[in-house]
Amino acid sequence: MADITFASPLLPKNKTVYGIAGDTHTLLAVARDHRIPVPFNCEDGDCGSCLIKVTVLDGKQPMGSTLSEKEKFTLAAHGKLSKEAKELAEIADIPPQYRLACQYIVRDEPILVEFSGEPGVE
Ligand code: FES
Repeated sequence: MADITFASPLLPKNKTVYGIAGDTHTLLAVARDHRIPVPFNCEDGDCGSCLIKVTVLDGKQPMGSTLSEKEKFTLAAHGKLSKEAKELAEIADIPPQYRLACQYIVRDEPILVEFSGEPGVE
């Protein structure tokens, strides 16, 4: 797991968390472990409270990650998964920029995670 930088109006400044090799927690679990106030409710991909925007910081293409049907449905319901982004995820294994923190498994890539602090708003 690589470094994860969180940015939000709720934080006085960006906070970078240093990852642990082999860790396969969700991004929400990592945030909670470090007392970073990413909103959440269901923790199961249903509510969209944990909506985040993820940017890979090393300039590489985001690592592939399979989105569950539930995550796709919830992102689309919040207007954060376009038809094009859904096709890229399904056909080319390129994940969308908007994700659900409770469904996002942290990978070995440095990322910026932005969240507004308002449930369901990135
Ligand atoms: Fe409900 Fe993540 S906490 S979708």
